[in-house]
Formats: sequence, structure tokens, C-alpha cells
Amino acid sequence: MKKIIVANWKMNPQTLEEARVLVSRTEHRMHQAADKTEVVICVPFIFLPPLNHYCGRIKLGSQNVSWLEKGALTGEVSAMQLREFKVSHVLLGHSERRLYLGETDSMVNAKIITALKYKLTPIVCLGASEGAKKTDMKKLVAKQFRAVTDNLADKLLQKIIFVYEPAWAISTMKNSAAATGEHAAELVSCIQKLTGGDSRVLYGGTVNQGNVHEYAMYPQIDGALVGAASLDSENFWAIIKEFHRESIHR
Ligand code: PGA
Repeated sequence: MKKIIVANWKMNPQTLEEARVLVSRTEHRMHQAADKTEVVICVPFIFLPPLNHYCGRIKLGSQNVSWLEKGALTGEVSAMQLREFKVSHVLLGHSERRLYLGETDSMVNAKIITALKYKLTPIVCLGASEGAKKTDMKKLVAKQFRAVTDNLADKLLQKIIFVYEPAWAISTMKNSAAATGEHAAELVSCIQKLTGGDSRVLYGGTVNQGNVHEYAMYPQIDGALVGAASLDSENFWAIIKEFHRESIHR
């Protein structure tokens, strides 16, 4: 199975030209890594249609989708609208949406169900909670997993990419600290067990060119969700290359 590196640009960059340059720099190098890695770039909605043109090997993801298929929901975007612009993935349950925008487990659950119905691959983050400590993470992740996969047939789990991303490891959070490779690998294995072993599980939180080896060296970590470092094409490429290198050596 290929490793998956997901960029989460959040509300960046500020211009389409910067976005185009960022995507193109990675796209042009992807022939060197595409045999072992898959790259998904989750961009602000407004950049999805224009960036489509610059993506070949790179896949485009959105950072949200509505749980409603259509209708009256101001400010939201539907799964079918995303499909029309060849979006293949959608990031769900991110800490920032949970902590600042009131996204709940049951909303994430409903969004997963809608996304799957429209053949969008959900990339689902587990590990967001205000004030949760490292020692609480196994319990928290198990609770969130059960809630967000409620009423979902077991066979659908393999269509979901999960991410272990503790809020305390996200680079922009106050007093953040990246998880150690050992902790990330342990929690990734826990999530894999919860899924029955069929889903791919990534690690997210301050992954960058300086520490990526610490995560890529663990075979059970299927890739990374990358925020800040994905806004620098050299840094992002170094992350892709490292997962690629580790896969070749295995
Ligand atoms: P970070 O962000 O890599 O800057 O910590 C990751 C994320 O929020 O998904």
C-alpha cells in the first residue's frame, strides 16, 4: 500500500498565484515518488476549481463538506458540488473545526456518511480535545472513533483514512509539542485495531523535514497530515521523499 501525505493548507495562502506555484512545484516532482506515495492537498474551497488544472498525480481535497446533500445551509458546500470539480478527498473532524467552529462527533459522523455516498474519501482526524493530556489519548481516540463511525458498516471503514492528530501537537496551538515517533506509532496502532486493521492511519501534528524520519521509520504509520510545513514546497517535498525512501527500503 502506498503511503499517503496530506497537506492541510488551512486558510492559506492568500493569493491564487501562490497556491498555483505551491501545487505546481510538488506536481512537477511527483513522478519521482508516485510509485510509493499518494499526495492529497486540502485547499480552501475557492482554490479548488482553478487548481484542478495543475493537478495530475496530486489529488485535491477540500477541508469540509456539508452533511446535507443539497438545500438551505448558508455557507456550506455539498459533496456533489465537490465531485463536479474532481475533488476526491475531504478532511473531517480537524481540531480547529472542533475547537473553534463547534463541529461535533455527530456532525463528523453525518459528513462521513454523505462523503462516502458521493465517493469522496474522508480523511478523519481523531485526537482533538481541549486540555486532553498525552495519557488520555487512547481513551479519547477510542471514544471519538466509536462516535464518528456510528451506524457505519464495517466494510466502509476501509474507505476512510484516519489520522491520529492530538490537538497539543498542532504547530499553531499554544505550547504545542510534536508527538514522539513512539507515541504516534502506538496510537496509530490503536486506531488500526479499532478499524479491524483495514484502514490507513496517518499521524499529524508538526511534521516537518526535520522530524519526519521519526514517523516514517515506523511501518504502521501510513503517512502524515501536514499543516505549516506544507506551505513551503521544499519542506513538503522533503516529507514526501522521506516516506518514499522508507517504503523503498522495506
Ligand atoms: P501542523 O498542522 O503540521 O502545522 O502542526 C497540522 C494540522 O493542523 O493538520
